[in-house]
Amino acid sequence: MVKPKVLATHRLFDPARRILEENCDAEYWEKPGRPPREEVLRRLKDKEALICLLTEKVNDELLQAAPKLKITANVAVGFDNIDVAACTKRGVIATNTPGVLDETTADFAWTLLMAVARRLGEGDALARSGNWKGWDLDQLVGTDVWGKTLGIVGFGRIGKAMARRASGFRMKVIYTDAVRAATEAEQELRAEYRDMNALLAESDFISIHTPLLPETRGLFDAAKFERMKRTAFLVNTSRGPVVEEAALVAALASEKIAGAALDVFEKEPAIHPGLNRRNVVLAPHIASASLETRTKMACMAAENVIAAFEGRRPANILNPEVLKG
Ligand code: GLV
Repeated sequence: MVKPKVLATHRLFDPARRILEENCDAEYWEKPGRPPREEVLRRLKDKEALICLLTEKVNDELLQAAPKLKITANVAVGFDNIDVAACTKRGVIATNTPGVLDETTADFAWTLLMAVARRLGEGDALARSGNWKGWDLDQLVGTDVWGKTLGIVGFGRIGKAMARRASGFRMKVIYTDAVRAATEAEQELRAEYRDMNALLAESDFISIHTPLLPETRGLFDAAKFERMKRTAFLVNTSRGPVVEEAALVAALASEKIAGAALDVFEKEPAIHPGLNRRNVVLAPHIASASLETRTKMACMAAENVIAAFEGRRPANILNPEVLKG
């Protein structure tokens, strides 16, 4: 029997390859880095499934180049790179990888928060520089994390995982979201709801966990920074365009806020040069990058593809209406 053809724009991990290869004829982009767009389009001509990263735009152009495509499986929870409506119009299933990366991403948001509060980037640079002259009372003094107020913007799975970790630091947790959480969740996580303005005014640390949607694009603009405490820090592990980078740079330059720790950027892989400052910690979009979690994400994408080929409903389908027809 002829096996369905799959293109993966990455070599993936062995457990995911095993899932695919049992049932499919899988082709991978084995070279380091992303495949050039023309290469992806060329290779998609005869493929029934695409497994892609969030760097690949799945839009009309790509769908047109892939007339046999049945499913596009994103190896990411965020799917702002996928035009889901265009997929639906062509009867192509779209899937993502929710759930498996929540704890790992929250771990990393905390890593960033701690690093910016306690000036770890600067400390690391000094320790390596050969210029460290020894302990000094006011050397690299940062700000305490414990006992402060953590404001969480976007109280979904990752926002909640972020909140759960705050109790060990004896922090007050407040959150804002378009939808207020159930009372049991608020009680369990000891998190109090605030509207956005109240959260901005009250928080010592603000951590963003919203998806990128038309209503969250540019959510953090000059007016938001104006409302934050001058001593507050911003942490972003969601999507870069949720923050207006130029406004953030202006807020940092005029000391409207104390600092920022960022894993995501408006125009990745470009980073606004104004963010290259002492009180900003930068990471190259690695919040979910533990071997365990990235392997699970790749396996999940592979399983979504297999389900579609076997006529089952993929567990993480984003456009179930495609299956109704
Ligand atoms: C990573 O950014 C993801 O959306 O999974």
